[in-house]
Amino acid sequence: METMAKKKSTTQTAPEEEKLGFQTEVSRLLEIVASALYSNKEIFLRELISNASDACDRLRYAALTQPELSAGDTDFRIELACDAKARTLSISDNGIGMNRDDLVENLGTIARSGTAAFMRQLEQKSDGANLIGQFGVGFYAAFMVADEVQVSSRRAGETQGWRWTSDGKGEFTVAPTEEAPARGTRIQLRLKKGEDEFLDSTRLRHIVKTYSDHIAIPVVLRAGDKDDDKEETLNAASAIWTRPKSEISDEAYTEFYHHVAHAFDEPWLRLHFKAEGVLEYTGLLFIPASKPFDLFHPERQHGVKLYVKRVFISDQCDDLVPAYLRFLRGVIDTEDLPLNISRETLQHSPLLAKIRKAVTKRVLAELKKRAKKVPDEYDTFWDTFGAVLKEGLYEDADQRETLLELTRFATTHGVGTNESGRVSLADYIARMPAGQEAIYYLSGDDTDALRRSPHLEGFAAKGVEVLLFSDPVDEFWIPAVREYAGRQFKSVTRGATELSKIGDKKDADAEDKTDKPAAPGIDALVAFVKLTLTDEVKDVRVSERLTDSAVCLVADEGDIDMHLERLLKQHQQLDQAAKRVLEVNPDHPLIRRLAERLAGDGAASDEALADAAHLLLDQARILEGEPLPDPAAFGRRLTSLVERGLTSGD
Ligand SMILES: Nc1ncnc2c1ncn2[C@@H]1O[C@H](COP(=O)(O)OP(=O)(O)OP(=O)(O)O)[C@@H](O)[C@H]1O
Ligand SMILES: [Mg+2]
Repeated sequence: METMAKKKSTTQTAPEEEKLGFQTEVSRLLEIVASALYSNKEIFLRELISNASDACDRLRYAALTQPELSAGDTDFRIELACDAKARTLSISDNGIGMNRDDLVENLGTIARSGTAAFMRQLEQKSDGANLIGQFGVGFYAAFMVADEVQVSSRRAGETQGWRWTSDGKGEFTVAPTEEAPARGTRIQLRLKKGEDEFLDSTRLRHIVKTYSDHIAIPVVLRAGDKDDDKEETLNAASAIWTRPKSEISDEAYTEFYHHVAHAFDEPWLRLHFKAEGVLEYTGLLFIPASKPFDLFHPERQHGVKLYVKRVFISDQCDDLVPAYLRFLRGVIDTEDLPLNISRETLQHSPLLAKIRKAVTKRVLAELKKRAKKVPDEYDTFWDTFGAVLKEGLYEDADQRETLLELTRFATTHGVGTNESGRVSLADYIARMPAGQEAIYYLSGDDTDALRRSPHLEGFAAKGVEVLLFSDPVDEFWIPAVREYAGRQFKSVTRGATELSKIGDKKDADAEDKTDKPAAPGIDALVAFVKLTLTDEVKDVRVSERLTDSAVCLVADEGDIDMHLERLLKQHQQLDQAAKRVLEVNPDHPLIRRLAERLAGDGAASDEALADAAHLLLDQARILEGEPLPDPAAFGRRLTSLVERGLTSGD
């Protein structure tokens, strides 16, 4: 990162001041931030106070195992001080602090979280200004109101203080300084012209009350000069989750959510609860309204922080909530864990496992309530987080039943009517026609493409609803779940359909009466096609599931299902593909025609019939979206058949 030549300092012999360049993205960000005509500039203070609070939390935790780090000063506080003459506003904390490398790494590059998301969005949308509000841009928000930012910091446990200075125009300097706080960080903003409002204590009081009232560390405003130094704590400075619900406004809850989740949307669901008795813990949890950018990111973290007796312990405690609830944001604070618990012990703490179980139950119960009370909202929730929650179906056998009740599926039901949309398993079963036993599903990559699948024809004709699975996770929970309410999950692309058993008696009789005798020669044709395609298919059968299409491919009972095989192939996790069953539609005019022709004279050696058999298989492959093993042969056969068709003119 060190881009600029080191400048020689003339006077002191102390180690030199270095001039370094910002990471490209940071420069781009600063340009936007500095020039942004963003109305709500006051959020800069929220960001800086949030950083200061995180820094105190991190030191308090580090001091649990290295008490010397906070020795002599465990009164964490954040201080605001204005100097009207110098037109500077400073925000100081006695938290963990930063040394030279921390300053270069943390304030010279886009290290983490919201800001990275901001930059990605920026690539998609042009108007950076509006995005600032959505993403808060962290530390760099200071440059919305300051034309110079000085960060003087001394890392806890280290003696050397460092100063980081920048005007936000592409470069910054780092130099050792004695003027850093004894421990922690002081950020001094030299305000731009026209930003004097941020030197006014009333204004500052309002901003802190609006955005940082939930910060558990006192935010103190120091006004007046050396002689009559007045101090005033501007925020409630108590952990918001410990306060009675009745005393907390929705705005305060939302601001806490913004802080704890580094998020900027409105939370969809809020759960504030206290568990007493065997386990004692308090929880304040939120479900965001929109997808966090790292939901499927390999390094993703759940956003629930663990506190013990209001002391921040960890935000990387995987055992606190299951991965399938990783969209949760918030805190769990327990009285029952020892403060100096190490991360290793945390990992295998039976108590934490109990809290995890209880919290999971509580969250799922709340979702169940919501699904009943506000089904449309729940549908939006499902849109956003359904694919994650479904991971619990194979991860968490204990909660499987509840998760199945919460699961919503796209379906073939009511297409084109306002009844379309998702269905729960309970509603699916409630509207099953007589005779239907299994829960039918079709899985693939895209719901709309699935709706056009020939495999659905026979089911649609019988009024049998088919669930449409289009999340990759669906292929993983089905083998683990197998059934719901005593009914098997059955793929419409594998094995027999049992369609003939479905439909009420009246239909069945009508069907029997009108049952068209099998087209003459169908069995012979099936045998012929089977013979012709011996090396390529497992079997050829008369289909029950086709009404319009001539053919389709299905997996044989017991073989790996079609979509799962495609997924595994895509991920090079399958070397040998299973042979499929080619199903033919006995009522399709082409099939009838072929059967007649086969029944004709000298048909056995009829090359056209053999070509037709291969073309039927290739057609079924194309319908599956599978590549043809021999496109040239396909082309040749198609050409010759069309040619024959044109010349015979019959
Ligand atoms: N007062 C501070 N004390 C110690 N470290 C700090 C302080 N302020 C910022 N930092 C460091 O600088 C990094 C960048 O801060 P920044 O606010 O841009 O991002 P963030 O807080 O990590 O995430 P977000 O974008 O959600 O705010 C922080 O992660 C932290 O390591
Ligand atoms: Mg921040």
